[in-house]
Amino acid sequence: MPLFLRPAREDDSVQIGWIGLKAFRDDVSRSAFPPHLHHKSKSGDPALDEVRWRAARNRKRMREGMPTYVVVDMPESEDGNGQVVGFIQWELPSQTRPPSAHVNGGDEEDLSPPSLDQEQLREISKLIHDMTTSALGADGYSNMWYLSSIAVDPSQHRRGIGRMLVQHGLDQAAKAGKDAFLIATEEGRGLYSVLGFHNVGEPVARGHSVYNPMLWRVPSINPT
Ligand SMILES: CC(C)(COP(=O)(O)OP(=O)(O)OC[C@H]1O[C@@H](n2cnc3c(N)ncnc32)[C@H](O)[C@@H]1OP(=O)(O)O)[C@@H](O)C(=O)NCCC(=O)NCCS
Repeated sequence: MPLFLRPAREDDSVQIGWIGLKAFRDDVSRSAFPPHLHHKSKSGDPALDEVRWRAARNRKRMREGMPTYVVVDMPESEDGNGQVVGFIQWELPSQTRPPSAHVNGGDEEDLSPPSLDQEQLREISKLIHDMTTSALGADGYSNMWYLSSIAVDPSQHRRGIGRMLVQHGLDQAAKAGKDAFLIATEEGRGLYSVLGFHNVGEPVARGHSVYNPMLWRVPSINPT
């Protein structure tokens, strides 16, 4: 079935939330929604809390103007909606700020479910911020396209969806003459390496994850 990349809409957020849940189940999710807080779930299902949290956070970021794209798998028979199989969210240089600034409780109930370990989340955000400033310096941080989040439905891995999503962003960054930066999970590293990212600092192990700072340099234009 054909794959299409398009800008995300707010009504994609729940599908994006489910993909995030499935894709990060083994690392980030285990730290942010730990078993010892499961009994606090108001919905009675911590997985549902996490999907709602991911969806609400995604909507909030889209409203803040962060470029967000999805890949949809489109059966020939469908009317143009298709199923979302992957998403990516970027921060533009003008939007980039310490990650801790936008991962907070917020006003909406879905953004701070009791089953979410806020302290753990703040720690991850701080780690990412510290790794970013240590790799790029305080100013460099605000000069790049920053890949904030990407995930592909695990049942759809290795179909080229991650590549489509990242390459599309890199093409935009190149047009704007900007470099790109991200903190990679171990699982993401292979994809970023084949697309031209390289490590710019030591990996850091924390909780269930290992984080790798990676930089992509915009290709220089040959004057001849
Ligand atoms: C990382 C992720 C987005 C990759 O998505 P994907 O659609 O499976 O990737 P693609 O099919 O486009 O892969 C393109 C190439 O990247 C490399 N690659 C992708 N996944 C890889 C992996 N797990 N290990 C090593 N290389 C990998 C391969 O070279 C691959 O080409 P190939 O399939 O011809 O060998 C996906 O595994 C995912 O969602 N993981 C969980 C969430 C996550 O870790 N996100 C990254 C946060 S930084």
